[in-house]
Amino acid sequence: MKIAILTSGGDSAGMNAAVRAIVKCGILKGCEMWIVREGYEGLVRGNDDGGEKAGQKVNDEAEKLVEAELREKRNEITQEPDKNLLHNLRFGDGELLRDGTSEYVGGRTLKGRYIVRVGWDDVRGWFSEGGTLIGTARCAAFRTREGRAAAALNLIKEGIDALVVCGGDGSLTGADLFRSEWPSLIQDLHSQKLITSAQLEAHAHLKLVGLVGSIDNDMSMTDMTIGAPTALQRICEAIDNINSTAYSHSRAFVLEVMGRDCGWLALMAGIAGGADFTFIPEKPPTTMPWEDAMCAEIHRHRAVGKRKTIVIVAEGARDRELNPIRAEYIKDILTDRLGLDTRVTTLGHTQRGGRPCALDRILPTLQGVEAVDALLSATPETPTYMIGVQENKITRVPLMDAVKATRAVGQAMNDKEFEKALDLRGPEFME
Ligand code: F6P
Repeated sequence: MKIAILTSGGDSAGMNAAVRAIVKCGILKGCEMWIVREGYEGLVRGNDDGGEKAGQKVNDEAEKLVEAELREKRNEITQEPDKNLLHNLRFGDGELLRDGTSEYVGGRTLKGRYIVRVGWDDVRGWFSEGGTLIGTARCAAFRTREGRAAAALNLIKEGIDALVVCGGDGSLTGADLFRSEWPSLIQDLHSQKLITSAQLEAHAHLKLVGLVGSIDNDMSMTDMTIGAPTALQRICEAIDNINSTAYSHSRAFVLEVMGRDCGWLALMAGIAGGADFTFIPEKPPTTMPWEDAMCAEIHRHRAVGKRKTIVIVAEGARDRELNPIRAEYIKDILTDRLGLDTRVTTLGHTQRGGRPCALDRILPTLQGVEAVDALLSATPETPTYMIGVQENKITRVPLMDAVKATRAVGQAMNDKEFEKALDLRGPEFME
């Protein structure tokens, strides 16, 4: 089987660990492994050489490219050519592919090629790298049927018959659509004489599996998304840092954290960081006006001797009327009503990047192995699976069931029926 992997949507810590696990596990199980650079954008763009098979020509060019760069480097260091340096930089300590067809040399790929074959060593050490090394991009073209047809053609040209997508619910919904449309897309390609009858037959079905990569932990039917534990860790570290100043000056801080429409990061950070008050989208303050409730609570904490105040607000936090609750507004309330010297800190993208924590290496590794197994046992009848984790067990659930449940939560929240939304996420979520 030829398996390609792409990452899509916002980057998250652990995506590289997922790619690494899938590549290594796939190779061990006898598959040919490929990566797609820049998410769906790369899938739609494909390779400039029109699908020319990765092979000696490509390798020769890579060799020249690497040698030219090394020559430059060597000139900076010494005039003496160093054969070992060349070998080590190119191959590391291990081997690339045994048949020498890797195109992903030391993290470089040839210009104009978005779908490239990778070997064992290409992903070495990736579990400790933040973001996504194979790139991600928002792709308008993949939202169109023409874009998806181009993507299908590019996969077929390289002989790829299976795809792993790691991304959020939008990216995974796109993946499922791609798979369900696949038979008609390739029929069209055949009618336009862009693929042969043999290719039509050989690629009758696309095998596809989704992994959830998102710092927001906003997908139903899985307890944890790849990247959420690291983002939470980043927030905790930020709170620890802010605590020093808050304590020293007896100040109040309002911290805005990410999470889009999901309050998981804010809620967990509130618990882990000892916040005085936390605002999340799923459960707006029940006491109205909430400003009074918040001030009463913080006043109570100060009265028992607290020197500092930490309020966490999720970026999607809203009141019961669905009006956004903004950090600056909270700051004004704390300043005006309680006389607290208050500052706002928006953590922004510092939450998203950096080295993955242990869980964001373990989870994607286990899920990556499961993804390869799911592809190897897939049939045209099996649904597109999302690999999740529930109660500490790696799970396979129909991707669209998870997407539907996630969307239902969002809809219920917009209908102001928050309690229903909570039921959908499971009683343990907010109790
Ligand atoms: O979905 C991940 C996330 O970081 C959200 O928490 C945040 O709302 C959004 O992406 C930010 O997107 P961008 O990086 O495009 O500004």
